[in-house]
Amino acid sequence: MITRDVVTGVAGVMLTAWVGTPTSAAEPAPAAFNNHCRTCHSVKEGDHRVGPSLHNIFGAKAGSSNYAAYSQGLKSSGLTWDEATLDKFIENPDQVIANNNMKPYKGIGDQGLRKEIVDYLKSQGSSP
Ligand code: HEC
Repeated sequence: MITRDVVTGVAGVMLTAWVGTPTSAAEPAPAAFNNHCRTCHSVKEGDHRVGPSLHNIFGAKAGSSNYAAYSQGLKSSGLTWDEATLDKFIENPDQVIANNNMKPYKGIGDQGLRKEIVDYLKSQGSSP
């Protein structure tokens, strides 16, 4: 009897774990990203469009992907993309990196929208 209860218990735990797996999927893009970034950026690895792929951008050094058209300004900025640098760059690229080539992009004044985008970028590339 005891073994039977244990087996049922283990099966139950396994089933719960299996049903719960969708949490590891990448988050869907928020409207703010689709509206302001998607024309030029993809988050798929190596998928460079007008701008470089933003896969794994969080924690990366600026200008470190194999995108071919980086400006000298961005490549030599020495920046690492974290919450603060991404937020400021999205607010006003020119203020963070002089002579960057992210044009024509006008910046986003709304802090809430910027946070949605930064949180989204943070979630990209962190899945196994
Ligand atoms: C008009 C096209 C365009 C739009 C819109 C645009 N970008 Fe860019 N982005 C670029 C280009 C081109 C570069 C390369 C800039 C350079 O080399 O100076 C770039 C560079 C970047 C980088 C640096 C990447 C790296 O590898 O270091 C980040 C981060 C970035 N963009 C984020 C965003 C986000 C987030 C948005 C939306 C809020 C956005 N961009 C909107 C074209 C765009």
